[in-house]
Amino acid sequence: MPKLNKHQLIAAAMRARRNAVAPYSKFPVGAALLTKSGRIVRGANVESASYGLTCCAERVALFKALTEGEREFTAIAVVARAPKGAMPCGACRQLLAEYAPDAMVFTADSADPDCVREFKVAALMPGAFLAVPARPSRHRLRGK
Ligand code: THU
Repeated sequence: MPKLNKHQLIAAAMRARRNAVAPYSKFPVGAALLTKSGRIVRGANVESASYGLTCCAERVALFKALTEGEREFTAIAVVARAPKGAMPCGACRQLLAEYAPDAMVFTADSADPDCVREFKVAALMPGAFLAVPARPSRHRLRGK
């Protein structure tokens, strides 16, 4: 991926972060997902008074893209106000491993967006659970 695009994707994540709905943590996060065809799909974290319902910026962007028919992704940028940026949580890593296994992950601190760290999804989620094994037929299940 050319250097310019990495910074463009971080810039898109910066814009996405402005729409975060994070009244509880007060930690807005923006994400920008790049499709293979060159489209950028943005997302931001959305929190709930029932805290556990919170959805991270990465998953919002991924769910938006998937439900708009996108299936191939080359990179995702994540921006938050934290030293070196925020790393995707385990739940987001699982979903990225499933739906964007070949993507790069770029992270940056919103206060220093030119300093971009990069990772491969595959390296962030080694040994991911990717498919439910085929179910053995009923009679073979007995006693197992
Ligand atoms: N969060 C994200 O959106 N992405 C990350 O990579 C880390 C955490 C959100 C979830 C929650 O709304 C807030 O940041 C604090 O955890």
